[in-house]
Amino acid sequence: MHAALQAASEGPRGANPLVGAVLLDDHGSIIATGYHRGAGTYHAERDCIIRAEAAGITDFSSTTLYTTLEPCTHYGRQPACTDLITSAGIPRVRVGATDPSPNGGGAQVLRGRGAEVVVGVLADECRQLNHRWNQAVTQQRPFVTVHLAQSIDARIAAADGTSQWITSAVSRQHTHAIRERVDAILVGTNTVEIDNPRLTARDAEGNLTDSQPLRTVMGLRETPAEAKLRQGQPEGQGWLQLRTRDPLEALQQLAGTTHNGYPVKHVLVEGGQSVLSAFFAADLVDEIFFYTAPLILGAGRSSLGDIGVTTLAEARRYTLDATDGGPTRIMDDDVCIHLQPEPKGAPECSLASSPAPVQSPSASPIPPKAWNGSALKPPATPKVWP
Ligand SMILES: NC(=O)c1ccc[n+]([C@@H]2O[C@H](COP(=O)([O-])OP(=O)(O)OC[C@H]3O[C@@H](n4cnc5c(N)ncnc54)[C@H](OP(=O)(O)O)[C@@H]3O)[C@@H](O)[C@H]2O)c1
Repeated sequence: MHAALQAASEGPRGANPLVGAVLLDDHGSIIATGYHRGAGTYHAERDCIIRAEAAGITDFSSTTLYTTLEPCTHYGRQPACTDLITSAGIPRVRVGATDPSPNGGGAQVLRGRGAEVVVGVLADECRQLNHRWNQAVTQQRPFVTVHLAQSIDARIAAADGTSQWITSAVSRQHTHAIRERVDAILVGTNTVEIDNPRLTARDAEGNLTDSQPLRTVMGLRETPAEAKLRQGQPEGQGWLQLRTRDPLEALQQLAGTTHNGYPVKHVLVEGGQSVLSAFFAADLVDEIFFYTAPLILGAGRSSLGDIGVTTLAEARRYTLDATDGGPTRIMDDDVCIHLQPEPKGAPECSLASSPAPVQSPSASPIPPKAWNGSALKPPATPKVWP
């Protein structure tokens, strides 16, 4: 299960949970490892089975499958993992955490078909890997990733409101790669009025990428008719005004919205200060990409305003997130820090104690890695189940 957790941490956070799977032979040796690379791509169990087949395995009758999350029972963009496990003929399944979403119940389904299923192997670690995804599912809202591009003195804009561009082209390209994989982008009314952003996902040459997010504006005032994000094709694929200042209500509105035929399950909040502060104050931030550029803006707009913290003890703690390319990366002259909220009242995830540990904030200092532009690229596997 440590190896499955390690594999899971390679994937991106978002609409779907991080999941890893490992197949063992009857001697306990690893035959194949798989992991989930985001919504629409192979689930970890399928990825693992395909890799085992590619390695020449045709008979699974003496194998054991370890998976960090209960296999799904659901046919969506991918087939149900329970059916894949049954048709492969895998007799033993070891599960880390149960699935709190409507896709759960796979352990019981497999037992009903005669498989030997054990649930709760490294359960705390497996649950904590997706603790914020679990919370988003329980709250029936999309998963929230925050993008925050700031100066080293924590300003997201200069005194006159200008913020294009604080960060490097490499950082911005990383943001575009995240835009490509989310279902929606959210900004506040002021950001539209001041920056007039397109909120599209573009490649390094400035061309629109295949997948475009739903562009949304949160606020009570009307978005100007001439705003770039209100323009139709080919600039983007739709926009939506969320007439509220309540972040949970905005997310609930988005949860009831479809984009490109699928419900909105992953939102990128890009700012500005008022909207970001509202999401932090409501503890509705599940993941953060914090880009800090080496410039000082002095009397500019601070990254965050009042989030209800009056004394240090009230401050929400965040931890370095070792998943999806690592916790810290150098992007040209910028530093990108990847964070997630610290789990509340639960033991620390012990990914670092696995045989092949990921970089951990509690381990030796993490050498910053340069981002090579490929970390968020989709896998070579087809996105859609034929
Ligand atoms: N560096 C970056 O990453 C980055 C990213 C984005 C923006 N920016 C910069 O940020 C600045 C804009 O920040 P900002 O704080 O003035 O504006 P903002 O957060 O973009 O928008 C504020 C507006 O959003 C609406 N709103 C929705 N929910 C709200 C809530 N809970 N609390 C307060 N307002 C809410 C209100 O408009 P209604 O009156 O319509 O309700 C409010 O006036 C600009 O200078 C922009 O360049 C920087």
